[in-house]
Amino acid sequence: MGSLDGFNGGVGDFVEGRLAEQKVVDGKLFPKVFLPANDVEREDVQALVQKIRSNKAWLEDEVVKSNTLLFRGFPVRSAEDFKVVVEAFGWEEQQYLGFSPRTKIVDRVFTANEAPLHHQIDFHHEMSMMKDWPSKLFFFCETAPPEGGESAIAPSHLIPPLMEKTVPEFVKKAREFGLLFKITTPSQDVPNSLISKSWKTMLNTSDPEEAKKRAADILGCMHFECHDDGTAGFKLGPLEIIRMLEKEKGKEVWFTTIAGYGQGSKNQLLMLGDESTIPIEVVEAFKSIMDEQCVNLKLKDGDVLLLNNLAVQHGRRPSKPPRKVLVSVCK
Ligand code: FE2
Repeated sequence: MGSLDGFNGGVGDFVEGRLAEQKVVDGKLFPKVFLPANDVEREDVQALVQKIRSNKAWLEDEVVKSNTLLFRGFPVRSAEDFKVVVEAFGWEEQQYLGFSPRTKIVDRVFTANEAPLHHQIDFHHEMSMMKDWPSKLFFFCETAPPEGGESAIAPSHLIPPLMEKTVPEFVKKAREFGLLFKITTPSQDVPNSLISKSWKTMLNTSDPEEAKKRAADILGCMHFECHDDGTAGFKLGPLEIIRMLEKEKGKEVWFTTIAGYGQGSKNQLLMLGDESTIPIEVVEAFKSIMDEQCVNLKLKDGDVLLLNNLAVQHGRRPSKPPRKVLVSVCK
């Protein structure tokens, strides 16, 4: 964290806003907040769409520089509005592949996570366990929760040096062996759970041989097995935990979670690539570093949050109902 630099709107004539929960990371506000510049932008979503279109290159640059942009106060009221805002950026859609439940609302727009609201979703980069991951991620807050439910975001490049300082031996091993992630999928789809899809739904086939091929081709999962009781085992990895991502200008990021995706989920098993367990104190150190470095963002109705998925981890705090957040992922 360092000193705050001034707002330079450049060609993008967005008005920058401030939030109580904002932090300063590498001299920049995290997240960066954009507000409407006039009444037209407060009332007509097309005004925002036009503004994004005419400032596309500048905004793309801002996503890389600030890693997280929050558009607040614009009249984004429905999944349809959200879709046109996402499309205005002109980025190709990335197909969502994952074990978590998501329902398509309109083209490009899905429910963010249907796991019960009282569950925490731990920090992660979207689809980081998969072969291909999105570079950008949009969230839209359709209904803000009455209490809790913050969207927690954390700059991932801050994590490797802090972990190195706290648990140096583990980080050395993590770099050497990577992470193995074992997931057991249920025999039938289980709505409202973190790992909700059966292998048949997940891989869109009921043929075990075809499933094996698809698991390898689509997920990069080289060890897939169907069990007699209808459950299936996916073993992903070893995956690099700390990565130097090409587009991230030489910064290492803590790309692969060692905490899993949610509290106490029994069908996720994480271990190092040499099959040794991750000590509980390491997981606790990781969680407390993430909690210290994050911003717990209280999204409001109509907020659109844009994340650089290569640089920022996200999670969800436990929430009181109702809370409705939609997502769209881009290549
Ligand atoms: Fe996610």
